[in-house]
Formats: sequence, C-alpha cells, structure tokens
Amino acid sequence: MITLYLNREIADDGRRESLFAGNFYLYTNLPGAHALADHAKSLIAEAFSGRDPERAQYEMPVDEFVELVGPLKAEFTNGQRTKELCQQFALDLGVDPENTYFDIPRLRVIPADNYLSAGVSYNYKAHRDMWYGHPQQLVNYWVPVFPVVGDNVMSMFTDYFDKPIKNGSNAYDYDEWVAKHRPAATEKITTDDRPHPLPLEEIDSRGEIRIAGGSGDVMMFSSNHLHASAPNLSGVTRFSYDLRTINLEDIRAGRGPRNVDCGATGTTLGDFLRVGDLAPLPADEFAAALQNS
Ligand SMILES: [Fe+2]
Repeated sequence: MITLYLNREIADDGRRESLFAGNFYLYTNLPGAHALADHAKSLIAEAFSGRDPERAQYEMPVDEFVELVGPLKAEFTNGQRTKELCQQFALDLGVDPENTYFDIPRLRVIPADNYLSAGVSYNYKAHRDMWYGHPQQLVNYWVPVFPVVGDNVMSMFTDYFDKPIKNGSNAYDYDEWVAKHRPAATEKITTDDRPHPLPLEEIDSRGEIRIAGGSGDVMMFSSNHLHASAPNLSGVTRFSYDLRTINLEDIRAGRGPRNVDCGATGTTLGDFLRVGDLAPLPADEFAAALQNS
C-alpha cells in the first residue's frame, strides 16, 4: 500500500523512512519552493520575451525554440540565485543542513504533441533515477512552474516500486554520460539516440498515477519509483523543475529502498552541494559504501 500525505508536518528522518517505503508527500505551502517557481517564471519570461511561454511553440520554428530553451535551462540550473533558493527550499522542509546535499535543479520544458520530444525536451521514458547513476537513497522533488494537468505531468508506475523490470541500466555509466552525451542534448531535435537506460519489457500501467499540482506545489517521492514524462497531450508546453537531495547518514547506515533492478555504474554524488554552505559532497568517501549497496 502506498499513501499520499498532504502538507504533513513530520521530521525529515521519519519522512525519508516513509518515502523509502514508497509513500508520496505533497506540500503546497513551502515559501522556498514557490520562490524557486517564481524565479523560473521570471527567467522564462525573459527568454520568451513577450510571448506566452506555454503557447510559444505554436508560433516558433522548432530550431528557434531549441536555441531559446537550451540557455534558459542552463541559466536556471547553474545560476547563483537558484542555488540560494534551493537552500531555502530544503530548509523549509526541515532537513539537516549539515548532512543533506542537493543536486542542482533542472528545468524541464516539455512541449505539447509531437513538436519536440528529444534533446533539451527529452520525454523521459519509464526509469528509476538510479538507472542514471543516482544513489539508492535519493529523494526527489517535482514542482510545476505553471499549473499542470494529468495530460502533462509525470506518470508514476507505483506497482513497480519494489518489483524489478528488465532494463538497460547495466550499460549506463554516469561518467561516460557526462563526458559524451549530456553536451549533445541541443543537437537532438527529431530523435534522441543517446544511450538512455530504457525499460526492456512492456509496462503494466494499472498502478499508474499522475499527480497534478499548481505552481510551486511540491511532490516528493523516492527516486526508486518507476516514473516517466507522460506524453504531453494538454495543448500547452509544460514547465517544471526538479530537485534531488541525499542525506549522508542514509548512505553511511545503508538505509534506502531495496535495489531491485539497477546495474548502472558511476555516481552523481560529486555534483551535490551541502544545504548549509554549498560545499561539494566528498564523493570519494562514499564510493566504497555505494558499491556495496
Ligand atoms: Fe527521473
């Protein structure tokens, strides 16, 4: 059984334990999350200069759209203001700022229909974040920038939380991805032939749920959940951001959901920054612990 908790006041240790069991948490009242959504909105408004960003796809050639979205995403991910707002976001949730680290957030821009679903707007097929080199103890936060509906959010395949599925993650190495494939995103317009770790069997969608919040509303989930970008049939471009955190005590203690099917190598941990002071995570210290998990 999986439970969805709304605006639940709970200590972070207990919440992570609950997330690691597959539960979801929704928060509609976090000032940091709303501030980060507003920051994204202002960068989007600047980039689209006067156009309605949710509908600009209908009046722009796709290559122009890609040229506009690439730098927008980079600015959101790497800007200093974004990092400061991530700190506030995490502190609002009551995480331990010494032991909690966050991965710099990503802005997702998913146009409707078949306009563009590759490269900068890659529609993620069903995956667990671990298949992309993330640690098993990862907590994920997914936040709409503009209000979303079932037709343009993420699909969560809840039946697979603890059930393996055949997949290509054993051919995925994070270091290789960073060196070779991530920089190629802006070249991918019609097809995305980068070696994403994909499911290799049909997914039974009976347990699929879609959670659609308003701007700045946060959906928290264990990254062990199998999830995908739902095909965007909403008629508008979806803008959302996602953030991930890790508490080092979980790695040290070997907590987290069971690894049911991931064979990826390499780790994203070297990308994470400490909530308290933005210091980088000492990833080498954890390499051995992660290999044994
Ligand atoms: Fe994901």
